[in-house]
Amino acid sequence: MKALILSGGKGTRLRPLTYTGAKQLVPVANKPILWYGIEGIVAAGITDIGIVISPETGEEVKAVTGNGERFGANITYILQDQPAGLAHAVKISQFFLGDSPFIMYLGDNLIQNQLSPFVEQFKSKQLDALILLRSVENPTAFGVAVVDEQGRVLKLVEKPKIPPSNLALVGVYFFDKSIHSAIASIQPSARGELEITDAIQKLIETEKKVEACSLDGWWLDTGKKDDLLSANQIILDECIKPLNKGETDDKSQIIGRVQIGSGTKLINCSVRGPVVIGENCHLENCFVGPYSSVADEVTIIEAELEHSVILQGSKIINIHPRIVDTLVGRRALLTTSPQRPKAMRFMIGDDSQIELT
Ligand code: TTP
Repeated sequence: MKALILSGGKGTRLRPLTYTGAKQLVPVANKPILWYGIEGIVAAGITDIGIVISPETGEEVKAVTGNGERFGANITYILQDQPAGLAHAVKISQFFLGDSPFIMYLGDNLIQNQLSPFVEQFKSKQLDALILLRSVENPTAFGVAVVDEQGRVLKLVEKPKIPPSNLALVGVYFFDKSIHSAIASIQPSARGELEITDAIQKLIETEKKVEACSLDGWWLDTGKKDDLLSANQIILDECIKPLNKGETDDKSQIIGRVQIGSGTKLINCSVRGPVVIGENCHLENCFVGPYSSVADEVTIIEAELEHSVILQGSKIINIHPRIVDTLVGRRALLTTSPQRPKAMRFMIGDDSQIELT
């Protein structure tokens, strides 16, 4: 079995971060989202992995992720010249997939469940497709499935106005080679994309074996800021063990599960876990509260933050109201004068969001 991870796309919902970087590389608990998917696939015993990349962010994905050695996998990069849909990504990957069954994994999705039980079910029942479903409160925003009591999929609808169920399609799919002829027989949708839901619907119409499994663990689609912060919270809750490789002075207080990378200095700081702080950071006179991830080479002086993700090389200096629910991009600078500010001076890129509450 092979795996195909989709790491191209436009990433419009995570702008402005996605103007300058791949959304699949945005870190959750200081590790790129994409890597969680790769690790989950390798843990299920699949090591032959294709990653679909875009012309805009592909080089960065390649440089950060490499040839797969670090994961014990063999990675082939596949360039998709435009984001023409999930089924289009499969179509252009046929040379890599051949006739092999495969997992298709959306590179910005995270799931808690292990993949191997689904791989077993897919193989033992000799299915043409196995899809994963999760009940959601707002099915109109997702691909939605209608399923019978045996778990057979009867119908799929993409972002329905009147949803036939509350079961959304999770971004992890298992396909046999029959998906390729289904894709060859569909047309682009109204939004101009070759939709994987249309290809699966085609499998259903031609009486192929399409089944669904419900996910009991969490599922996060990190394509938006709030989902990314939730993913960060869940992963910090589950994965962080206390480990301090940095230097903390006597006045600093570390409470709970906090990971601090080497070369990082804390002077008169209070850190309340779960928190991860990367390497070579400088933190002084600050409070870092629960569910925060601070990447490498970040400076935080005279500031308080919690439930936030701060990316590499950023500086936060003299910000006194607490920073909450915030995502700060790479090399950003947030600062005020040491006295109470009389005016505010900004340089804000397109699509930025600033809320002074
Ligand atoms: P989406 O999040 O559905 O699409 P997008 O990346 O264009 O994002 P947005 O809606 O914010 O504009 O894509 C799911 C995953 O699949 C994501 O990792 C990007 C990837 N993808 C491709 O690789 N090729 C494509 O043609 C599309 C549409 C998505």
